[in-house]
Amino acid sequence: DDIAVDAAKRTAARTAVDQWVTEDTKILGIGSGSTIVHAVQRIAERRWKEGELADLICVPSSYQAHHLILDYNLNLGDLDRNPNIDVSIDGADEVDRKMVLIKGGGGCLLQEKVVANCAKHFIVVADYTKNSARLGEQWCRGIPIEVAPMAYVPIKLQIEALFGGEASLRMAKVKAGPIVTDNGNFLMDWRFIANREYDWAEVNTAITMIPGVLETGLFVNMAHKCYFGMADGTVKVQN
Ligand code: A5P
Repeated sequence: DDIAVDAAKRTAARTAVDQWVTEDTKILGIGSGSTIVHAVQRIAERRWKEGELADLICVPSSYQAHHLILDYNLNLGDLDRNPNIDVSIDGADEVDRKMVLIKGGGGCLLQEKVVANCAKHFIVVADYTKNSARLGEQWCRGIPIEVAPMAYVPIKLQIEALFGGEASLRMAKVKAGPIVTDNGNFLMDWRFIANREYDWAEVNTAITMIPGVLETGLFVNMAHKCYFGMADGTVKVQN
């Protein structure tokens, strides 16, 4: 099953790269997670085996993406020099019917949202397990929210009072204590009420307005297309 899921990630990532990254693409945003590794591998294959994309500049959205770009010897950019991104490619934890995304399972949502927001086209790559009619079908961990460490208790209480459910601090597995993000913040996972009808744009705005919240893992009206690798080896494109 894990092998099938990984094959689906790979097919989705390679298909999206080949459709969206051309010789006309100057600046490419690079997301985080396990699916994006396949996308970077495909870019590197085209760069180093097929001799294409020599001038492509890659802008990372995390520590992981930064090092992926370096490991594959691609041109590393940044938002100071390259704020106008042509295409950004990233994974997602869950995608609903309207292409609202949950991101940040890997902890990198803040920079991911900044980079996605700078892109003319934001393209999502994922396997079939991420494709839901409504959020909460697959992702029992909830919606990740990056917060200033000293503010996590009041933020938790305010989110629960506003929208119900339960928000908890994400704890590290090896280190004793909470996860610290690439930006030095804490992460909360908000398990919303699964069968309640939420207006995700409204929820995202309200949570973002709470002092101490840096960013949410809700990506509303950002994705241009989603490429899902399916169990049968095909790729389904959602608009
Ligand atoms: C990183 O924090 C996330 O937003 C990832 O983009 C998301 O978790 C997708 O990861 P996978 O490609 O590993 O599923």
